[in-house]
Amino acid sequence: MIIAVDGPAASGKGTIANALAMHYGLPHLDTGLLYRAVGIAVLRAGGDPADESEAFHACGFDNALLTDPGLRSEAAGRAASIVSAHPSVRAALLERQRDFARQEGGAVLDGRDIGTVIAPEADAKLFVTASPDVRAQRRFDELQRTGLAVTYEHVLGDIRTRDERDSGRGIAPLKQAEDAALLDTSALDVEAAVATAIGLVEQRRKA
Ligand code: CDP
Repeated sequence: MIIAVDGPAASGKGTIANALAMHYGLPHLDTGLLYRAVGIAVLRAGGDPADESEAFHACGFDNALLTDPGLRSEAAGRAASIVSAHPSVRAALLERQRDFARQEGGAVLDGRDIGTVIAPEADAKLFVTASPDVRAQRRFDELQRTGLAVTYEHVLGDIRTRDERDSGRGIAPLKQAEDAALLDTSALDVEAAVATAIGLVEQRRKA
């Protein structure tokens, strides 16, 4: 079974994808990490994420980078959102994600274009969302726990910019697949969101 989980920043898609993977005993790929790795590789080489050829060259990053704690930073998220709009970068990362999705037994993948581009054939698709305010508050709390000095307004501004860039790009924009179930987590805690997600996947499986 392939499960596709898409949605905007801090919507809870990563947590839900992880919980679904545990529940069904499937391997999980957080595809945002691939774009974050490209973004960080460009920044560390002193390059500009907006430069397509520099970003494309960074796609050959070493797999060890995928476990680097720096990937979780806001700078990496911002750089990821910029490099991910380059068609050559998306093309370079495509096969890797498709191979993961099509492995024997299936997989859970989360990102922006899993249900639309990477695995349109997925058995279950969820589009996880939440209001910008709720998402900004979650990301703000997360960042505060890691000891980073940021303001709520700054985080909200960053989330809005990223939403616009991710939804407005010409290639593989963030959008709900026609056959994806919508899951709004604005008023749900983690437990309730995960229980709802499992319920939606079960409905799809039976359909
Ligand atoms: O959850 P959050 O948005 O903070 O981070 P992420 O899921 O790691 O994604 C970081 C950035 O990578 C997003 O803003 C997207 O621009 C990009 N991305 C993408 O374009 N396609 C994907 N399948 C996953 C991430």
